[in-house]
Parts: sequence; C-alpha cells; structure tokens
Amino acid sequence: MSSYSSDIFHELSEYTAPSWVGDLKILPKRQVTLAVKPTPIHRWNITEIPEDYTIYIKRDDLTGCSLSGSKVRKLEFLLADAMVKGYKSVITGGTTQSNHSRATLVAARQLGLDCHLVLRSREEIGESYSTSGNFIMMEAGSPNIYILPWQPFTTETFENYIKHLAKYIGETTKSIPYHIPCGGDNELAIFGYISAWEELMKQKVHERYDDIVFANGTSGTAIGLGIGNYLTGSKLKIHPVLTSSTIELVQDKMDKTLCRFGLDVKSKDLFDIIDGYIGGGYNVYTKEDVIINQSTIRTTGIYCDPVYVGKALKGLKTELRINPGRFKGKRILFIHTGGTFGMMEKDIAKIIHTNESTKRIKQWCDVFPTFINTESVDCLRTK
Ligand SMILES: Cc1ncc(COP(=O)(O)O)c(C=O)c1O
Repeated sequence: MSSYSSDIFHELSEYTAPSWVGDLKILPKRQVTLAVKPTPIHRWNITEIPEDYTIYIKRDDLTGCSLSGSKVRKLEFLLADAMVKGYKSVITGGTTQSNHSRATLVAARQLGLDCHLVLRSREEIGESYSTSGNFIMMEAGSPNIYILPWQPFTTETFENYIKHLAKYIGETTKSIPYHIPCGGDNELAIFGYISAWEELMKQKVHERYDDIVFANGTSGTAIGLGIGNYLTGSKLKIHPVLTSSTIELVQDKMDKTLCRFGLDVKSKDLFDIIDGYIGGGYNVYTKEDVIINQSTIRTTGIYCDPVYVGKALKGLKTELRINPGRFKGKRILFIHTGGTFGMMEKDIAKIIHTNESTKRIKQWCDVFPTFINTESVDCLRTK
C-alpha cells in the first residue's frame, strides 16, 4: 500500500494512489496537506442505544480548528489542482451557513489564494445581521462575499451565478478564479474520502467495525468511502443518512459518478441509504432537534450541528431501535463530519438558553446569598 502527501502543511506533494484503487478513470496527481490526520476514533457512549451495540466515532470534526470537518479532506485535492494550474484565487458558494464555503475560504487564505464566495441567505443583510458561526468567520476572512436572496435554485442555476461572477472577475482583474463547485462536489474532491479509506484501513476498519454511518449531503463522503470499501473487499455496510434531497435523486447522482470513475457497480450495491430524517429540509430543524443534540453534548461532550451530524445521529439511533436488521453487525463506526460552527447561531442559542429542562445558569447571589459578604468581611478582617 502506498501513501501520500508531505508531512509539511501547505506543501504540494505527489499523490500516489493506494494499489487497490487500480485503474480508476480519474486520478489526482497532487495533494496539499491541510487536514490534521489521522483523525482519532473512540468509543461513543450515546444513550438510548440497544445494549448489545457498541458505537465508535471517527472525529473528522477534528481535522483542524477554523479549518475543520469533512470538507478539509476534499480541499486537499481541489486546492492542489488550483495551485498546480497557477490560479491566484478561487470561487465557490453555498448558503450563509455553508461549512464548505467557510473551509474553502480559510484554506485558500492559508495557501495565499484570494477567495470569492456567492452565498444564499434566508435573512436580509442589515446592520444587525448575524446568522451562523460559519458566516461570521467568512465575513471576517473575506472581503469578496456576494449574497443572493433565498430561492429554490437547482444546483445548475446556482452554479451559473458562480460562473457569471467568475467571468466578471476574470474580465475586471484579468485573473480568472478557480471554480470549486458548491459543497466541493466533484470527482477530485471524492479522493478526500478515498484517501480517508486508506487511513481507516490503517485504523483496522475491516477488523474492528461492521457498519459505518454518517451524514450525506453532496454524497462525496459516501462515494469516497463506498469506493474504498468496494475495492478492498466490501466487508463493511455503509449507511449514508440523507440530510437533504430524495433517495432517487441521490442514487441517480451516485450512479453517474461511479460510472465516470469507470466502475461497474451501482449505488444500491455499495450503500444502504437511510432516509426519513431530513425533517423540514436542508438547514431546517426543530426545537426538539436542538434539545436532543444538547443532551448528546451533556452526556458525551460531542457537539452535533442540527443541519448534518444531528440528523445522521437521529437516523442511527432511530433505525437501531425500529429497524436493527438493516445493520450488518453490532460494532458501528459513526463518522463525525464536522459542522460545529453551525451550532453558533442565534436561533440555536435561544433554544439552549430557554431550555426549561436544563436550568443551568444560576445567579450566584440566589444560591449563595451570604458568601460574598462573608468573604469580603473576612478579607477586611485580615487586613
Ligand atoms: C458537517 C457536514 N457533514 C456532512 C456533509 C455532507 O457531506 P457530503 O457533501 O460529502 O455528502 C457536509 C456538507 O455537505 C457538512 O458540511
């Protein structure tokens, strides 16, 4: 098995695919080290799990700090491509809460590239504008943000806005930015999770776990892990949990991507897609969802955002209860794909602050009405 990458962060290195990759039709040539790897795996003692199951968690939320989550693995290939081709800037987009856009901005800045972002917003921009933690980080780090009002765009329509801006920047600055599709959604990015499979093999994934569960958006994580599992013997059962879209659209997209890689296999042979936990749609969540995630934090110290990881966890817990037969075994590896900054949002703060079941904030003087006085009196006496 070959390996990849320079040990020195931000340096371009040759990417040598592991031998099991064989002759995939698409292979990157370069990688730039951005993520802290390998990410650790540990037991995750979440509540309400049937007794005979053991849950482990792979902490891809720990691929970095401001630069964190699953998207960083993908950017190692996308930004390497931009650098090799001599681009001075990148352009991408998403929503104002987009983890991908925040990670792209941070990584681009670290590599000395300029970054342009097209972001869709549900709120109007004004003086008191504040949305998610991701947006605050993007605004702090980039002067090049273009806000589009919220509309039910297709991916294609939204990409057209990004292309339009790229053309405009090219004409006005004579330097066209490198276009990264929304969510980092292309074949190069999928190598982030093909190489994560290599990392998982070093972490003995074949021996230690039966099933893998994680949040699914663009399906890049799923396809990378699915290809790794397939080409190394398909020993695990992989369950992407939908956080948006429909199962039909997701399968169709996955099948087309697998075909572009030259693989003669279908998504239904690679995945058991878990549906039914999207709730009101992408980035729509209820007060109850936030309170459940809060309880996970309080019992295990792991933060789950309500857009991605919280939905995947809800899917895992519920399916283990109502449909355990869909899992291959009893040792389940959950991949935490990040999104923690999505927790830092004013609506979530309000729900946590007013959660009656956890009256955490107490006024010191209500609990210890005399202590301060006593201490200050003591203090005065010793002088
Ligand atoms: C935190 C987080 N988890 C999961 C996903 C979904 O990953 P993928 O797009 O590879 O399916 C995303 C982004 O889309 C994300 O930001």
